[in-house]
Amino acid sequence: MSDIIEDIEIRLLLEALYQRFHYDFRDYAQASIRRRLRQARDQMGFANFSALQEHLLHDDDMLPRLLGYLTVQVSEMFRDPSFFRTIREKVVPHLRTYPSLKLWVAGCSAGEELYSYVILFREEGLEDRTLFYATDISEEALAAASRGIYSLDRIRTFTENHRASGGKSSLSDYYTSAYGNAVFDKSLRDRVVFSDHSLVTDAVFGEMQLVSCRNVMIYFNRDLQDRAIGLFSDSLMRNGFLALGSKENLRFSRHADAFADFVREEKIYQRREQ
Ligand SMILES: C[S@@+](CC[C@H](N)C(=O)[O-])C[C@H]1O[C@@H](n2cnc3c(N)ncnc32)[C@H](O)[C@@H]1O
Repeated sequence: MSDIIEDIEIRLLLEALYQRFHYDFRDYAQASIRRRLRQARDQMGFANFSALQEHLLHDDDMLPRLLGYLTVQVSEMFRDPSFFRTIREKVVPHLRTYPSLKLWVAGCSAGEELYSYVILFREEGLEDRTLFYATDISEEALAAASRGIYSLDRIRTFTENHRASGGKSSLSDYYTSAYGNAVFDKSLRDRVVFSDHSLVTDAVFGEMQLVSCRNVMIYFNRDLQDRAIGLFSDSLMRNGFLALGSKENLRFSRHADAFADFVREEKIYQRREQ
């Protein structure tokens, strides 16, 4: 089939997804959306995107299946340990000066990044004065995040990352093993608010000291990245910190002037006083 027809069908499918369910993927980076949709079409056995769209509109089971293809859930605890070491060594000393703290993990996936922060904050004695907001558009990911259960196969990587990030205890202090899984202590969630929130369609959260949005904006086009960074800028207090993923930066953003580099190599920025 020609690329032109495929392009039309993809645009219509994304429009249908938005009009019917308010999930807005219309401005995600094209190449990756196209790749994911082709995968969905082929694996679900549809001849073309029009057939997939028909099912999306008429079959209740289709939405979560399609979202599973469209959202990338790759994550790890203490992913990029040098990043978390920098948070611990350079950002935490600033955070200590506040009597109460708010941290927003935007695009939290199944919770790996969130638990990394909660554990780090507990180890640094900041957990009790912090409210953690963990948001994502994927209901499945949010449900997994609020369960805090990970396969034991993944724990070796998590443990090595935690140690390399300057962890002050053993990761095994925070979970119990059961049936091939690591079940993270529910006290780690005492101060967490989980919420469905889209960086594309939803509004700001107020007065955060730290916003962490790592490896989410790589899937957005330039306009969407600008929208998300505008949200972060409006959600941060003056001198608050913004943390991005290793392949992301603020360089080309319309909002770049609102931030100063804090630790450039780790993509940690600080909102300027304005
Ligand atoms: C690759 S994961 C990143 C997970 C974690 N932040 C990390 O760095 O390990 C990307 C996450 O972004 C979420 N996401 C995609 N579009 C989003 C949007 N518009 N608003 C909020 N989250 C979104 C996906 O559901 C997925 O959980």
